[in-house]
Amino acid sequence: MNDQKIDGGKRTWIIASGCAGAVGAGFLAVPFVRSFEPSERARAAGAPVEVDISAIKPGEKLTVEWRGKPVWIVRRTPEQLAELPKLDKELADPMSQRTTFATTPEFARNDWRSLKKEYLVVVGICSHLGCSPGDKFTPGPQPSLPSDWQGGFLCPCHGSTFDMSGRVFKDKPAPDNLEVPPYMYLSDSRLLIGEEKKA
Ligand code: FES
Repeated sequence: MNDQKIDGGKRTWIIASGCAGAVGAGFLAVPFVRSFEPSERARAAGAPVEVDISAIKPGEKLTVEWRGKPVWIVRRTPEQLAELPKLDKELADPMSQRTTFATTPEFARNDWRSLKKEYLVVVGICSHLGCSPGDKFTPGPQPSLPSDWQGGFLCPCHGSTFDMSGRVFKDKPAPDNLEVPPYMYLSDSRLLIGEEKKA
């Protein structure tokens, strides 16, 4: 699919005019929808998106579009997964109990926030004012991040930080974790974003 890109850790979603006051789908959808072919337009309007995740290497991120929004699929390393429970005390809502996203799936209310621990699937839009955070997967001290940084995401607009599960750290402008969309596995290497398996 030509809208899938493996990120080497630097790419951010391009938002036309920054983030001031712009929250999510409505604002983001317009420029994308206009440039789509008819089938792509239908998909942008809400159809589920099938994704091949077989080429994502540990530590890499793939970005796809769903409903005009960037959805990130991050293949986390064992080291990254091992850090998640240790961060709970520093996070605003470690178990994703808040209700900004009424549809937070039950499987996301834990440290790893995903169906399979290895693969994080989140909407890459900050819950503050709709910027797209950047990848900061490398642990250690670096500009705008604490010296004990363990890897995650940094929102450049007002400095909110998120861990490798998209959970926001305490005392940041972002009021909530990154949204986990509905999704399901069609096979070990194929995801369907936008639909959950019925119980
Ligand atoms: S939009 Fe303000 S911190 Fe992300």
